[in-house]
Amino acid sequence: MARFFVFFMVLVAGQRLFALPVAAFGDLRGHVEPCGCDPRTDVGGVKRLATVISRYRASSPGLLVVDAGNSLLDLDAETPESTALARALEIIKPTASLLNQLEWSRLAHGKSIPDLNWVLSNYKGPSMRVKTSTVVTKEGAEIYGYLGLVDKNLTVADPGLIGRWRRVSPVKKGATRVLIFSGTDKDLSFFYKSKFFDLIVSSNQTKLGLELGDQEQKNERSLTRESKGQIMAWSVPFGGGGILRLGGLEVTAVPQTLANALKPNCGSCAGNITPGLPLSGLPALQTIHWLRAGEDDGLSDDIKKIFSEAKTKSKDSFLAMIGRREKDLGSSEFAGSAACLSCHKSAYEIWAQSKHASAMASLKLKEKQEEPPCVECHVLGFSTKGGYVSEDKSPQFSNVQCESCHGPRRRHVENPTIKSSIDAKTACAMCHTPPHSPGFDRESYWKKIQHK
Ligand code: HEC
Ligand code: HEC
Ligand code: HEC
Ligand code: HEC
Repeated sequence: MARFFVFFMVLVAGQRLFALPVAAFGDLRGHVEPCGCDPRTDVGGVKRLATVISRYRASSPGLLVVDAGNSLLDLDAETPESTALARALEIIKPTASLLNQLEWSRLAHGKSIPDLNWVLSNYKGPSMRVKTSTVVTKEGAEIYGYLGLVDKNLTVADPGLIGRWRRVSPVKKGATRVLIFSGTDKDLSFFYKSKFFDLIVSSNQTKLGLELGDQEQKNERSLTRESKGQIMAWSVPFGGGGILRLGGLEVTAVPQTLANALKPNCGSCAGNITPGLPLSGLPALQTIHWLRAGEDDGLSDDIKKIFSEAKTKSKDSFLAMIGRREKDLGSSEFAGSAACLSCHKSAYEIWAQSKHASAMASLKLKEKQEEPPCVECHVLGFSTKGGYVSEDKSPQFSNVQCESCHGPRRRHVENPTIKSSIDAKTACAMCHTPPHSPGFDRESYWKKIQHK
C-alpha cells in the first residue's frame, strides 16, 4: 500500500536565513479540502492553504513561498476538483514550484501544465516551458529545483552539476540559496554536504541522518556549534497537512509533535516541531502551521469563486448521472439490507446499529450528499451499474450496506442456495484507505461490527 505520510526534511545552514521568511508546502495530492472522515486527518487542503499564505504575505513582505510539488491530481481526469485545485495554485502563485513526475511527463508529452513558476535547474535538454536555471527574487534569494529521475535530459546530483550551478549563479555573493528537492536520500545527502545551499526543502521522505552515518552526524553537529552554524532539522507536514514556516513569520500555537497535531482539538498543545537532531541552544527556526478546519475563513473572492463553481459542476454531474443511472435500477443485482432481515436477523441488527448504516447522515451533515467524490464510499455500488442513484430514487441503497462487503445478492435472496465467491474480508480496504481511515486496523475494526 502506498504510504500516505510524506515527510519534509529541511536543512538550514548559516545565520542569514533567520531573517528570510519562508513558507513551504507540497504533497496536497489533489486535496481541495480534507474529507473530515477522521478528525486526525482533518488538516490540509488547498482552500486553507490559499487563505493562510495570503495572510502570511500581507504580514511578511518578501515571503518566499516554496512549493515542493506533488500537489496535483492527474490533470487528464479533469474532475471539477482537480481543475479547481490547479486554478487555486495559479492564484497562490508560489515564488517557485518544483516539477513533480506528473508535470514532468506532461511536459515531455507536450501537454499543458498549470501556469506556475516551475523551476527545474538540473535540466539540460532542448528549450522548455519552465525555468531551467533558477528563480531569483527581488530580495536576492536564488531558488533551484532538482528532480531526481533517470532521464537523458536531467543531470544527476554530482560535483559537475554544482560546478555548473556555481558558474551560472546570477547572484554570486550574499545570496540565500534554496534548493527544492525531490530524489533519493543519497542525492539529498550529496547536496547537503556540498554546502552550496542555505536551505533545502525536500518533498519526499528521507533518511538523511542514516545516510550521513552516525559519525558524520556528530561531525555535522559539532560544525553546528563551533564553526559554520550549520544545523539540520526535520519537519513533517504530511499529505499537504501543513505549511512549514521558517524565520520572520509570526508564530502562533502549533502542535509540538505530529502525534499532538493529530489529536482532535489540539488548541493548547503549542510548541515547536521536534527536530530530527537536537537543536539545543538554538532559537526556534521552524514551525509547522497545521491547516485545520476554519483556516479558510476569509478565503479571497477570486478563490471562493473557483470553488463555488467546482461545487456547482460536481453537483451538476451528480444530477446528470441520476437520469442515466435510474434506468439500471430495474435490473439491479443488488437487493439492499432490508431484504436480508428475514433470514439473517442477528447480522441485520448488528449492521443497523453500526456506523455503516448511518454513513449518509454523515455526508448530509457536511452537505456533501450530492458530491460524487464523497458519495462513492458512503453508499452501495455507486460505481456499479444498478447501484445507488440518489436519496429519492434508491433510498434502499443509501449508506454502507451488507452488499458493500458481500457483493450483489439479489439472486441469493430469491434462492439462498446461490452463494457468492466474494471474500467480504477483503472489502474493507476499498473504503478504509489511509487518508479516510488513518487508524484502520482490521482486527479491532472487525470486532466492532462482528456478525455471522
Ligand atoms: C430467504 C432467506 C435468505 C435471505 C433473504 C438472505 N439469505 Fe443469506 N443465506 C441464507 C441461508 C439459508 C444461508 C446459508 C446457506 C448455506 O450455508 O448453505 C445464507 C448464507 C449467506 C451468506 C454466507 C454464504 C455466502 O454466500 O457468502 C452470506 C454472506 C449471506 N447469506 C448474505 C446475505 C445477504 C447480504 C442477504 C441480503 C441481501 C441475504 N443473505 C439474504 C438465507 C437467506
Ligand atoms: C475512499 C472512501 C471514502 C471517501 C471517498 C470518502 N469517505 Fe468519508 N469515510 C470513509 C471511511 C472509511 C470513514 C470511517 C473512518 C473511520 O472511522 O476510520 C469515513 C467517515 C466519514 C465521516 C464521519 C466522521 C466522524 O466523525 O464519524 C464523515 C463526516 C465523512 N466521512 C465525510 C466525507 C466527505 C465529506 C467526503 C468527500 C469529501 C468523504 N467522506 C469521502 C470513507 C470515505
Ligand atoms: C463492512 C462489511 C460487512 C457488512 C456491511 C456486512 N458484512 Fe457480513 N460479513 C463480513 C465479514 C468480513 C464476514 C466474515 C467472513 C469470514 O469470516 O470469512 C461476514 C460474515 C457474514 C455472514 C456469515 C458468513 C459465513 O460464511 O458464515 C453472514 C451470513 C453475513 N455476514 C451476512 C451479512 C448481512 C445480512 C449483512 C447486512 C445486514 C452483513 N453481513 C453486513 C462483512 C460485512
Ligand atoms: C463501501 C465502503 C466501506 C466498506 C467496504 C467498509 N467500510 Fe467501514 N466504514 C465506511 C464508512 C463510510 C464509515 C463511516 C460511517 C460514518 O460514520 O458516517 C465506516 C465506518 C466503519 C466503522 C466504525 C468506526 C468507528 O469509529 O466506530 C467500522 C468499525 C468499520 N467501518 C469497519 C469496517 C470493516 C471491518 C470493513 C471490512 C470488513 C469495512 N468497514 C468495510 C465505509 C466502508
